[in-house]
Amino acid sequence: MKNVEIIGTGSYVPDRIVTNDELSKIVETSDEWISSRSGIKERRISLKENTSELAAKAGLRAIENAKLEAKDIDLVIVATTSPDAFTPSTACLVQAIIGAENAVCFDVSAACTGFIFALNTATQFIKTGEYKTALVIGSEVLSKIMNWEDRTTCVLFGDGAGAVVLREGSNGIIKAYMGSDGVNSKFLYCPAVEVGNPFAAEIAKIESKISMNGREVFKFAVKAMDNSIKNVLEASKIDIDDIDYIVPHQANIRIIEFVAKKLEISMDKFFVNLHNYGNTSGATIPLALDEMNKKGMLKKGNKIILVGFGGGLTWGAAIIEWTM
Ligand code: ACO
Repeated sequence: MKNVEIIGTGSYVPDRIVTNDELSKIVETSDEWISSRSGIKERRISLKENTSELAAKAGLRAIENAKLEAKDIDLVIVATTSPDAFTPSTACLVQAIIGAENAVCFDVSAACTGFIFALNTATQFIKTGEYKTALVIGSEVLSKIMNWEDRTTCVLFGDGAGAVVLREGSNGIIKAYMGSDGVNSKFLYCPAVEVGNPFAAEIAKIESKISMNGREVFKFAVKAMDNSIKNVLEASKIDIDDIDYIVPHQANIRIIEFVAKKLEISMDKFFVNLHNYGNTSGATIPLALDEMNKKGMLKKGNKIILVGFGGGLTWGAAIIEWTM
């Protein structure tokens, strides 16, 4: 089996910043409620660009950071829960925008855990020698599937994209773990279209909007992150004391604090940027990783845990060594 490493990161967020105060003009809420319950202060909202455009911009930046060209990429995987279309895949649209003419392209659907699932999928392909260089992107325009009248969800999410380039090389992706539980899928749900055709009885129109049981998701999230972190540590035989950073899915600061306390890990190890972006679902982890990379926080040899949870339900983690 080949080894796989991250050789570039990139991200892109729309320019438009929407503050909690602005949201309080749309729904009955306040900066105080949103900040104290979630830690979120503002988020980016796309006014025009769709998921593939955000993804392409983040992807190009990751390719540039890797000092490669788009034609060097032979696999593009986009993790998204808010694709442009049923078909083509967002990854195929990205391929056309960036000119990754030699790549095979497809999407992965695992909501907020999507990036971990996509990273692990690409890693397996490179490990077996099927592909050499992969562009893995998490991209979301969640604002288009938000119910802007539902204060329990619309204050939590944002739009953005993050990407990494993976390549055969050193042992950078040490271990990954994924889990799913379809039985509890209704805790976080966004329907597509209803069944309807000339032969079926008329069915009430459904709206493609996110709904969430916040309390149940909170309980699930804490368990899922705890379980995922423990799993990758045990499987890689790495001690938590040897971990430099944990990059968690950025949904809610209280979930992260809860997990830190439960696992007796200092909050200093957790990288948090949700106050600026809110929950960008599949994009939060690569967006955070790119910010850390740009800030020069990541040193060669650093060991990092990426950990997420989301709709599906899905959860997972990856333990990586920084080799750039
Ligand atoms: N502004 C003001 N009041 C609000 C708002 C709001 N935006 N939203 C809800 N409330 C009210 C509720 O109506 C309720 O009022 P009531 O007591 O009169 O009924 C009260 O605030 C408390 O509501 P709770 O739901 O109990 O609030 P809680 O403290 O649980 O916080 C939250 C809600 C932030 C959603 C929390 O449950 C949470 O973070 N859950 C996890 C959510 C999450 O992580 N989702 C994404 C994960 S998966 C993915 O990323 C796709």
